[in-house]
Amino acid sequence: MTGLGKVKSVAVYGIEAYVLEIEVYVTKGQLPSTVVIGLPDAAVKECRDRVKAALKNSGYKFPYKNITINLAPADRKKEGPSFELSIAMGLLIASNQIETAKINEYGIVGELALDGRVRKVNGCLSMAIKCKEAGLKGLILPADNAPEAAIVEGIDIIPVNTLSDTVSFLTNEFIITPFSLNLSDVFSDSSHYDIDFMDVKGQEHVKRALTIAAAGNHNVLMIGPPGSGKTMLTQRLPTIMPGLTLEEAIETTAIYSSAGLLGQDNSLIATRPFRNPHHTISTAGLVGGGSFPRPGEISLAHHGVLFLDELPEYNRKTLEVLRQPLETDEITISRAMSSVMFPAEIMLVGAMNPCPCGYNTDPKKECHCSPRQIRNYISKISGPLLDRIDIHVEVPNVQYKDLTSDATCESSEEIRAEVTKAREAQLKRFQGLKYSTNSRMSTKQIKKHCSLDSQAEELLHQAMTELNISARGYNKILKVGRTIADLDHSENVCIEHISEAVQYRNLDRDLWK
Ligand SMILES: Nc1ncnc2c1ncn2[C@@H]1O[C@H](COP(=O)(O)OP(=O)(O)O)[C@@H](O)[C@H]1O
Ligand SMILES: [Mg+2]
Ligand SMILES: [Zn+2]
Repeated sequence: MTGLGKVKSVAVYGIEAYVLEIEVYVTKGQLPSTVVIGLPDAAVKECRDRVKAALKNSGYKFPYKNITINLAPADRKKEGPSFELSIAMGLLIASNQIETAKINEYGIVGELALDGRVRKVNGCLSMAIKCKEAGLKGLILPADNAPEAAIVEGIDIIPVNTLSDTVSFLTNEFIITPFSLNLSDVFSDSSHYDIDFMDVKGQEHVKRALTIAAAGNHNVLMIGPPGSGKTMLTQRLPTIMPGLTLEEAIETTAIYSSAGLLGQDNSLIATRPFRNPHHTISTAGLVGGGSFPRPGEISLAHHGVLFLDELPEYNRKTLEVLRQPLETDEITISRAMSSVMFPAEIMLVGAMNPCPCGYNTDPKKECHCSPRQIRNYISKISGPLLDRIDIHVEVPNVQYKDLTSDATCESSEEIRAEVTKAREAQLKRFQGLKYSTNSRMSTKQIKKHCSLDSQAEELLHQAMTELNISARGYNKILKVGRTIADLDHSENVCIEHISEAVQYRNLDRDLWK
């Protein structure tokens, strides 16, 4: 029972997978011992105990010899459990308990339960992509992970439930048909939303603001009392954004896969995500973190909407961490050995009450907050974050007559068609640049694409002075004006576009200062 077993496995760090070589040496020795090279200490013990129990309970022997297990490359920090199935196979080969000619053709991943069952691991979509790139024939993995991995075409996804299944497959004792799914069917089946803008009665001007936001990819701040529908409206924002492409869906799915958030029935995230973390969330929870970095809410919202309800309640420091990803569409988490990047291309929607009591803008109820209390409340939002929000919109309580009206509202599909057209105009405008939406224009681009005629210029000037709109509001009005013009299929940004854009700078006005 001595020898060498070599097995390939795959691991993820962040959302990137890499292939590992697992070498198991079983040699004679005075005292039986197990040494694992390349795993942190605590994980080694657990791993050895579980592999031992799983082998015994599956009818195999755990060799009482000197065992050395080497996980290469050594310079990568590795997380324990997902290698257990491959270590077990290495041990069986090294101790001559099984013979297989197939072992080099497959990557093997899976955590072992003591009774020999194979447990789900995280990141199987990225793992399958990597195995394919590495030219492997297939990936042997926990059956529960098969649907997400099967999104990758051109590689055999071999689902196993137990350690014994794995042996039987490798030794040709029985055949396991690769798990496959029809990607285009799955994509079209799962790319529907259960909610619609039609569900929201009235609130036409908020819907308009959200349409503009979706069209130009502008971040939004909603200001309104509790119960006015801020959450309801924002939840529906993904439904009016352009449909996800398959490529985008796979990108988002890979993030959910690495976080272990995919189920059997939702192997592909084909709709734009909506995430609304509570204001007590930690920085790591929001942007990602941990010694084996996991994606945060901002990455789980990739290609979709991150909704921060009760914005002034969030920890200021936590919010400031959002600045970088809002600009670069990704978040980098630095670790001693290597840093990890998670994609984070999102639309940010913040919501808040107009004042501490909530009734400041309510025509029917009286607000007792002092200007100072209101100022304090608003100043809790970090300035740099506000700087990245182009559109402010007031959300009053819905009027009773609107709520009870039978009039049909515009559907998400109709609005999405308009939004998509406006996005196409932007794609053309920004051809060859890194970004393709108005919200990302630099000052230079704004000068180039938002020149105003004298009428519009005069209106903007007047508004800036009379409403006391700050200088930082100026460029935002131009950008939003550009998007309104795009929705209007207008080459130029005209006076009517500017006059509408000015309305979306509520927080810049005197009332709030
Ligand atoms: N315009 C509306 N049309 C239909 N229902 C609405 C509307 N506004 C609010 N509601 C109802 O009120 C509930 C509370 O709204 P919500 O979005 O949670 O408000 P907020 O987030 O502003 O506190 C919603 O779940 C919905 O049932
Ligand atoms: Mg709410
Ligand atoms: Zn108040």
